[in-house]
Amino acid sequence: MTKRFGGVTAVDDVSFDVPKGAFATLLGPSGCGKTTTLRTIAGFYDPDAGDIQIGGRRVNELPAHRRGTAMVFQDYALFPHMTVRDNVAYGLRVAHTGAAERTRRVRETLAFVGLTGLEDRWPSQLSGGQQQRVAVARALVIEPQVLLLDEPLSNLDAKLREQLRVELRTLQRRLGMTFVYVTHDQGEALSLSDWIAVMNAGKVEQAGEPWEIYYHPRTAFLADFVGAVNLVPARVSELAETTVTVTFGTHRAQVRRPPDVTVTAGHDVLLCVRPESFSITPAAPADRNGIALEGTVARRAFLGDTMRYWVRVDDREWIVDQPDPGAASPLDGAVSLSVRPERVHVIAE
Ligand SMILES: Nc1ncnc2c1ncn2[C@@H]1O[C@H](COP(=O)(O)OP(=O)(O)OP(=O)(O)O)[C@@H](O)[C@H]1O
Ligand SMILES: [Mg+2]
Repeated sequence: MTKRFGGVTAVDDVSFDVPKGAFATLLGPSGCGKTTTLRTIAGFYDPDAGDIQIGGRRVNELPAHRRGTAMVFQDYALFPHMTVRDNVAYGLRVAHTGAAERTRRVRETLAFVGLTGLEDRWPSQLSGGQQQRVAVARALVIEPQVLLLDEPLSNLDAKLREQLRVELRTLQRRLGMTFVYVTHDQGEALSLSDWIAVMNAGKVEQAGEPWEIYYHPRTAFLADFVGAVNLVPARVSELAETTVTVTFGTHRAQVRRPPDVTVTAGHDVLLCVRPESFSITPAAPADRNGIALEGTVARRAFLGDTMRYWVRVDDREWIVDQPDPGAASPLDGAVSLSVRPERVHVIAE
């Protein structure tokens, strides 16, 4: 699918399949085309090229209200002059659902999202989290095949966001409905999703399961976007069937060969190591089972659940996270780092 606005190509020849019944997320930085993609799926925009299919059926020519989709907007877009009950009933009214059934479905949906008792309130009399639930109820009541959610939690404080994340995930599981969720928050994407497509500048850089995206990113952009990472230039020196030997600085290591990319001897690559994959100890003889690096602590930051160290090794700094920092006194001076070879991922761009 491609979508242009005048001279701007907002979505540039993007193609992906969202698994049925999945909690699927479009993740990417501001302006990368997430909302445009979602709105095109919903039928608010006509694509310039390409097809949208839902359940195997091409829906390009179908108006938004006949696609079996419903959308939850970033600002909720509740009708301010309607009560909670009327906001939720709106889609059923438009579809000419009979009064008795309308009343029953609104009641059931409000109970489902935990809003029973607030039916007669106005949107202005609700907290942010309650408004968000009304927006979800208003979308769910029409029983869509696919629920589209555009950054629905971004206006909420951190604690409430975390609580509503869990609620959304539970709701999606209970309904077995396909959710397509848009966010620029990598933590949110990783914790909620069965499947993630990471977008950058109108393109999908990689799509797959959160685990795969986090530990086996195909590009440096992706590795960096989904979390803290060490990206270290290295050179391929030897290739075996399942391993590749790389050199970086004065070090040499044998790591897993990436299955779907071609690397050849002499090729420049990037090593991608997550900070939590290291163990850090006061300087000691090298662990012969792992890749060992000797360095000195340049600085550290206490993050609550982890201590983050920047460790200078030769001419570069490595980011290393130590869990449960309260269990030992903070390290200083000379330290040893070690990482299992299978925790090192090779990126060949
Ligand atoms: N109606 C429009 N007219 C012109 N340009 C648009 C329009 N909508 C979006 N764009 C442009 O298309 C690109 C993608 O926008 P989009 O809203 O899809 O990004 P996004 O990934 O949702 O970003 P954000 O995280 O900031 O919401 C941007 O460069 C934006 O300026
Ligand atoms: Mg957007």
